[in-house]
Amino acid sequence: MTGDLLGRRKSALAPSYRLFYDDPIEIVRGAGVFLYDADGREYLDCYNNVASVGHSHPRVVEALTKQASTLNTHTRYLHHSVIDLAERLAVKLGGDLSSAIFVCTGSEANDLAVRIARTVTGHNGVVVNDHAYHGNSTLVDQLSLANHPPGERVPDWIGVAEPPNTYRGTHAGDDAGTAYAEDVRRAGQQLSDSGEGVAAFLVDSTWDANGFLNAPVDYLSLATRHVHDLGGLVIADEVQAGYCRTGETWWGFEDYGIVPDIVTLGKPMGAGHPIAAVITTPEIAASFAKADSYFNTFGGNPVSCEVALAVLDVIEDEQLLDNVDRTGAILRQGLDQLSRTHDMIGTIHGKGLFWGVELVTNPETKEPVPESQVNAIVSDLCDRGILTGINGPHCNIIKIRPPLVFGEAHAVRALDALDGSLGSFARQGGTRADQ
Ligand SMILES: Cc1ncc(COP(=O)(O)O)c(C=O)c1O
Repeated sequence: MTGDLLGRRKSALAPSYRLFYDDPIEIVRGAGVFLYDADGREYLDCYNNVASVGHSHPRVVEALTKQASTLNTHTRYLHHSVIDLAERLAVKLGGDLSSAIFVCTGSEANDLAVRIARTVTGHNGVVVNDHAYHGNSTLVDQLSLANHPPGERVPDWIGVAEPPNTYRGTHAGDDAGTAYAEDVRRAGQQLSDSGEGVAAFLVDSTWDANGFLNAPVDYLSLATRHVHDLGGLVIADEVQAGYCRTGETWWGFEDYGIVPDIVTLGKPMGAGHPIAAVITTPEIAASFAKADSYFNTFGGNPVSCEVALAVLDVIEDEQLLDNVDRTGAILRQGLDQLSRTHDMIGTIHGKGLFWGVELVTNPETKEPVPESQVNAIVSDLCDRGILTGINGPHCNIIKIRPPLVFGEAHAVRALDALDGSLGSFARQGGTRADQ
């Protein structure tokens, strides 16, 4: 059956799509942190942040079915759900971030956020970190250097700042935050000098596509100051970082003590249902509205909003932020332990329930383990019933980013499997374990 699907998929879907793992799996059901394949095999999901409150959470499913069987329209009629959602997100975000526009994907959110920043500042240029990923619209794809080969010419309106990587980047020590922020200033200044100006610095505070970076704590506050001095706005792309993902706080930008001008939300908002948002200050929203209008057919529809409200309820009622802190500490400790027993682990990136295990062939030279070998390990983990992914510019980082309901027993199971897989891989000299 899976073989048949593979063949049909190949002819029915465009080849731009790709599948995970050497032996792709056919998932037919999900519950909590588990996924099940067509043969009934259970997998521990250590990868999917979109199913933020767990797969098929009963409260989310109930909210969806109840609203879908009552009404689904759009934002041009009065409906309480879109207002309830905007109000609750405003409380969570705090400060002046209280004016929302709902869309369907993170890409749409970032696309709109850049459009707002350009309209409000009158500038055209956007600064991004190298090898960031912000989405797939034509505009946002250009800003997502992770999508483009190194060395490809970047459009004149984009300023590229070095990601704040203290393991592999240019700067490490105490002044790394200042130095990396200076690179944001340099990229912005170049845009100003060339006449593009700085409309925004678009930043993902997990630096997901870079394999998750723990940036120097002062990086974003210093970078924000530079961007504001150049007349630009700061857009916090919280599509990965938001919704308790990194623990301690609801939002990634809070870890760095900044208040962005615009925030974009996506993935975890609907626990698998497509809903995303742009949230900004009333002043910026009003200034945009004077110059431009915006309508999104599906964004903010009552079904999506009821789903997103249920997600907020579950996170609060099940105290998932505390769970992220508890389980995150266990993962941190376990991964540190593994890094002491496996030379192949160069460093551990991450926080909360988002970890990157960076694999190197030699800890001194930091030479990345080749992608084919990392793929073999990740496929071996899948054989062991553990779903992870691959990340980073060198594709040498194992990505662990489970649903927020991931608990201690799940963490222990994942760590044991990783231990087994790395050990087996090292013994077999770089081939997929047990082959
Ligand atoms: C940081 C970040 N921003 C934006 C996006 C785009 O979101 P979507 O795939 O919902 O368009 C992604 C998707 O992976 C992302 O990781």
